[in-house]
Amino acid sequence: MINLDLSHAKLNEELSSYETAVKEAHKWLHEKTGKGNDFVGWVNWPLEYDKDEFERIIECANRLKDSTDVLVVCGIGGSYLGARAAIEMINGLYPNKHTEIVFVGNTFSATYIHQVLEYVKDKEVVLNVISKSGTTTETSVSFRLFKQMMEEKYGDKASSRIIATTDKARGTLKALATKEGYETFTIPDDIGGRYSVSTAVGLLAMAFADIDIREVMRGSLDAYNEYNNDDINTNTAYQYAVARRIMDKMGYSAEMFVTYELQLTSVAEWWKQLFGESEGKDGNGLLPTSACFSTDLHSLGQFIQQGRKCLFETLLWIKKMDSDIIFPKAAEDFDNMNYLADKRVSWVNEMAMRGTLSAHEEDGNVPNIIIELDDNSAYAFGYMIYFFFKACGMSCYLLDINPFNQPGVEVYKKKMFHLLGKE
Ligand code: PA5
Repeated sequence: MINLDLSHAKLNEELSSYETAVKEAHKWLHEKTGKGNDFVGWVNWPLEYDKDEFERIIECANRLKDSTDVLVVCGIGGSYLGARAAIEMINGLYPNKHTEIVFVGNTFSATYIHQVLEYVKDKEVVLNVISKSGTTTETSVSFRLFKQMMEEKYGDKASSRIIATTDKARGTLKALATKEGYETFTIPDDIGGRYSVSTAVGLLAMAFADIDIREVMRGSLDAYNEYNNDDINTNTAYQYAVARRIMDKMGYSAEMFVTYELQLTSVAEWWKQLFGESEGKDGNGLLPTSACFSTDLHSLGQFIQQGRKCLFETLLWIKKMDSDIIFPKAAEDFDNMNYLADKRVSWVNEMAMRGTLSAHEEDGNVPNIIIELDDNSAYAFGYMIYFFFKACGMSCYLLDINPFNQPGVEVYKKKMFHLLGKE
């Protein structure tokens, strides 16, 4: 399902020199003995996920989605990026589905919140608020406004159309859900936000979007089996992690996650959060950045080709997307484009990828790590996220960093709360 190609990466060290360190870190992940060990629930999640709750997610979506024009998902960071990545990767940007998924709670932008309130006000809505802590300010601001909208719109019935995904016992959101009688789903204690997409956090929205979430879990389980292996010579998730560390030592400070499909833009956002929040600590880490080609070749391409040599690229290439188009022949060849007549546009995209790879690698001296994924199915998504979880955990442990906390995020909150007058 995933093929890792390091032949364009220009690594100056053998992967095998990390053999012992990888074995040790693998043990930390699987035996829960490393830094942040109370947050490694995601490692065995594909095997151990709560099967009853999983069925309840499917039942809840099936019960509500026919009477729902818009599912409003209210959450930030790990509480929304994974669902958005999955839905866009699998269904595309303009899916022909009954229920549209809209994301709020991820901004203080009054214009955005206002626009969404206006957009949904005459539609049938279900509101899914997602917060592990139950106290995240962006989420709380939007939730109060959308809760009020739901109560004005549905009166007594509002509580049957509000779903809370939160801690199983603690927090203000859990307490409110119990008081109001909202249906609730659980974010496991030992899984942090950015490792939670295959829990109810991501699965409920995916189910509303008609994604086969059994396939997501099947993909993650197969990846679990594939990457439960401490051998750097065969474990490609760990090879990717080690390649990143070698790049780091070679002096690269940024990793650009490159895709060639606009519907993978949110996968890139999810990947940036996963690696940025996990690794960027104690003055360490690669800056995770992203680009979607060929679109961004007309903006960032110049810098990558000839600008400062601070980055390498990690190219996520999907071998077969679920749709294609044949370029038509024009009788008059009015645009001189007939040289592409009868060719698949996906082939043109692939040639753009190959040409760019050669330009960046050979002429621009920009190393490339290539990750090939078979397709953009639900199964592939489930497989891919587990690959990146494993690579990220390993990458951080090789730096002796706790991959599962985010102490730096608190700093802006403290300053903001002071300015907002919060006690
Ligand atoms: O990865 C993380 O842990 C964070 O990005 C959180 O998901 C994010 O801060 C939202 O937190 P919460 O779910 O508690 O509202």
